[in-house]
Amino acid sequence: MSDSKEVLERLQKVISRKGIASRRQAEQLISQGMVKVNGITVTEQGIKVTPVDIIEVSGVKIQNSDVLTYVLLNKPKGVITSASDPQKRKTVIDLIKDQIDTRVYPVGRLDYDTSGLLILTNDGELTYRLTHPSYGVEKTYRVWIDGHISQESLDILRNGVYLEDGITSPASIMIDQVGKKGKELTRVEVTIHEGKNRQVRRMFAKVGHPVLELQRIAFGPLKLDEKLLPGTYRNLLKSEVIALKKEVGL
Ligand code: URA
Repeated sequence: MSDSKEVLERLQKVISRKGIASRRQAEQLISQGMVKVNGITVTEQGIKVTPVDIIEVSGVKIQNSDVLTYVLLNKPKGVITSASDPQKRKTVIDLIKDQIDTRVYPVGRLDYDTSGLLILTNDGELTYRLTHPSYGVEKTYRVWIDGHISQESLDILRNGVYLEDGITSPASIMIDQVGKKGKELTRVEVTIHEGKNRQVRRMFAKVGHPVLELQRIAFGPLKLDEKLLPGTYRNLLKSEVIALKKEVGL
């Protein structure tokens, strides 16, 4: 059910492994419509789930993973945010797998050419809440754009800009630096509450200022750890996990 390519276990096997029912009883619960995966009732047998999928049996959530792991990666450019890539490009999992034994999954996505703060975890409930638009978790990006941006364009971006998949919600945007590297450039800090595909790049392109560099510097209460070099990672501190959970009511 998860969009991760890495399929793990059959749903009935997970339910029985958790001691809730035998394999056969689990199949019956599924056909009776008592089981939901990511909020959707599943009646088909044989569906496969990963540790980030949220499974509910008779309205009670079960954690499909034993050890909860939370990793903060400073994603470099040129790496794909996925568990595997048919084109064999390097993935964020390749960067951490030598030292993190537990299977973890990225919380949301950063584009191939975007760098910065990425959380990886096997905590399905937290992943769901941090990425679902209804929780409106703030994400802040440091963005170098082409040219000098007018007040009018800033107002358009702040109030909401029409993209192919709808209007964006209000964003906060601050000019941070104006510069020149052979051409006019501006560095801005942008905070958005949603996560449309390539949203920041499309917002600025729409007002005529292509994004040249994009880095995520904050995700909810977490800030990019400047000591963490691109491509390196660390486990989240207990206090950081608590702050993240609190942000989404856990
Ligand atoms: N917005 C984008 O355009 N790209 C990202 O990677 C993240 C936010």
